[in-house]
Amino acid sequence: MTHVQQNSFSSIQKEFPILSRKIGKHSLVYLDNAATTQKPLTVLKAMDAYYRLHNANVHRGIYRLAEEATLAYELAHQKTADFIHAQSMREIIFTRGTTDSLNMLARMLSSSVEKGDEIVVSQIEHHSNLIPWQQLANAQKAALKFIPLDKKSGMLDLSRIDKIITSKTKIVSIPHVSNVLGTIVPIKEIARRAHKVGAVVSVDAAQSVPHMPVNVRSLECDFFSFSGHKMYGPTGIGVLWGKESLLNHLEPVSFGGEMVREVYYDRATWNDLPWKFEAGTPPIAEGVGLSAAIDFLQKQGMEKVRAHEKELVKYAYDKLFALKNISIYGPEPKFRSGVITFNATPVHPHDLASLLNEKGIAIRAGHHCAMPLATLLNISASARASFGIYNTQQEVDLLVESIKKAQSIFSGGKRAVV
Ligand code: ALA
Repeated sequence: MTHVQQNSFSSIQKEFPILSRKIGKHSLVYLDNAATTQKPLTVLKAMDAYYRLHNANVHRGIYRLAEEATLAYELAHQKTADFIHAQSMREIIFTRGTTDSLNMLARMLSSSVEKGDEIVVSQIEHHSNLIPWQQLANAQKAALKFIPLDKKSGMLDLSRIDKIITSKTKIVSIPHVSNVLGTIVPIKEIARRAHKVGAVVSVDAAQSVPHMPVNVRSLECDFFSFSGHKMYGPTGIGVLWGKESLLNHLEPVSFGGEMVREVYYDRATWNDLPWKFEAGTPPIAEGVGLSAAIDFLQKQGMEKVRAHEKELVKYAYDKLFALKNISIYGPEPKFRSGVITFNATPVHPHDLASLLNEKGIAIRAGHHCAMPLATLLNISASARASFGIYNTQQEVDLLVESIKKAQSIFSGGKRAVV
């Protein structure tokens, strides 16, 4: 079956060198894009050219290379701002990744939380958007409250939101898309409730930015975190976006060079935004790689990226759903991004991942950095296939056939060549 969106990306695999490698005698089928994505040639080339031709530290030297590196690094902030529709590049802080962004934010907001206050997250958090707030709540003797998962629909249950987000709530931090269930969370609705009580809203957008158009202003949030490596860019770089009006009043939490204006033996003053939050030598080559990744995604068009993955996840969902002894977690395809987490009885997800690997298929198995969610679902582990721009229906067919064979092997069928 040929689909319009499939066709629009039909030759894109060629742009990713790693996708032409073999795993044993099989072509690589990479279905672990929620963990990290592969890198297109344009990103690899941009980083290579940066190191070969322009490498220098930024905001320091007055020689040609330093000027070029500074320009490239600042351009990366500008492109990121444009990509998520921020007001300006002053709102774009580069971090090491989403985890770093959220940890930083929790430290930046720590003084606004006092004993008896409340912080609200959801029951579907990745550890990165749970533990920083959990630790902050514990340290300040504040309460951590949870927007519950409606297990039946796979969506967050917002029916009691007014009881969860109250006048005591100082921070609400929620995922845009669940890395396990694929659930797309209605950020605006939650943000409106949070703002009514004067709370600030942070969004863990690690799983949305690479897969759908995002506009931080129309989401009505205050802070927004994501990673370069999940959007076809390099590891070691992430983004913390914050509204300029809020960032202006927050204190830095990391100190050293680059983030200062004037330093005395007994005190210091801070640099302008965003640099006051970027202490030390920043991820310059990674910024260049992130710029190239944004160019790559913009060239494809985020509407098209979303349409492609939406179609693929529906195709995969329907095919998996048709298997015997399968449990799929999370909402109907139309409410999810390109992530499918499942268990194919009687095969343990780790055994499944290892059998699929024999076919060159890479999926993730385990708790997906969301142990409390696994406990809530009454499972210790699950298998997860997560899609990117280069995945195809043929790859989904291969996945489903291989799962079927694995089930047959583990049900006492003959050990076939999988
Ligand atoms: N957060 C990444 C995942 O879900 C690592 O796999």
